[in-house]
Amino acid sequence: MERAVTAVVATPFALAPWMAAQLARVEAALEQAFCTEGPAGLGEAMRYAVQGGGKRLRPLLVLAACEAVGGQPEAALRAACAVELIHAYSLVHDDMPCMDNDVLRRGKPTVHVQFGQAQALLAGDALQALAFELLTPEAGVAPAVQARLCRLLARAAGAEGMAGGQAIDLAHVGRAMDEQALRRMHALKTGALLQASVEMGAACGAPPAAAWAALARYGAAIGLAFQVVDDVLDVTQDSATLGKTAGKDAAAAKPTYVSLMGLEPARAYAARLLDEAQAQLAASGLADTRALAALADMVVHRSH
Ligand code: IPE
Ligand code: IPE
Ligand code: MG
Ligand code: MG
Ligand code: MG
Repeated sequence: MERAVTAVVATPFALAPWMAAQLARVEAALEQAFCTEGPAGLGEAMRYAVQGGGKRLRPLLVLAACEAVGGQPEAALRAACAVELIHAYSLVHDDMPCMDNDVLRRGKPTVHVQFGQAQALLAGDALQALAFELLTPEAGVAPAVQARLCRLLARAAGAEGMAGGQAIDLAHVGRAMDEQALRRMHALKTGALLQASVEMGAACGAPPAAAWAALARYGAAIGLAFQVVDDVLDVTQDSATLGKTAGKDAAAAKPTYVSLMGLEPARAYAARLLDEAQAQLAASGLADTRALAALADMVVHRSH
């Protein structure tokens, strides 16, 4: 008699519907965060900086990490919005004439072009403050979780993270950097906020220490890969695809992975970092990391 064979077929993960559902949650929550007008046009500048464009990759990482550890969805949604607000603020300031002096962002005039430099500066400041206000509701998220989320985000945004990396970036215009120094700059200016996104998602639950460490290493790998790919896209894509000015790094004499090692080696490096990220997920011991795996793939294979 023939024996029935029950094949265990892993359900393939459909990123698109997962993303659509999560993005709808994030956009609605961000919209709610801007319920007040803000004096003297400040609210309008803040809203302009955040809404209408942006891949929302950092919020998606928060939500995917929270799901992977079975964490608290309400806390994760707040964390997702908070990290996007910090990211949006960093873009407003990054584009200002005293930094990268860019006129195009997310397919629109940059905030300082649209609203003036002083308003852009203030919009960035206020977005940063709003991020921490969102993380500290009076009810609904345990105080210990709130504190942990604030600490993770503050560290990633500050001198040991994004702001520190931006300072290194500006100090090296027109100056060569070795691979170690470039890696550190990228890890701080961009990697820190992406890694924090993953860690904040994890902090909405209580994963075992080994899973936590593996998720942190996954975050570090995709964080660095993200900026390596940003450097590659700056050279390979046009402004219409990017929604920001292409060819800016070479024009401004910025040290990048492309200027350091060339286009193909930079691409290969990003692919190695993707492998490393996927290996960390496999080693995490977590039951379902498919959304995180798909997002890592998106970081490296994106077109803009
Ligand atoms: C661009 O980030 C700035 C960097 C940190 C390299 P994103 O490529 O995530 O920008 P948006 O949010 O999709 O516009
Ligand atoms: C920006 O790096 C990193 C930030 C902290 C905003 P880039 O200056 O390369 O980002 P883009 O290319 O302008 O988006
Ligand atoms: Mg910059
Ligand atoms: Mg820039
Ligand atoms: Mg760039």
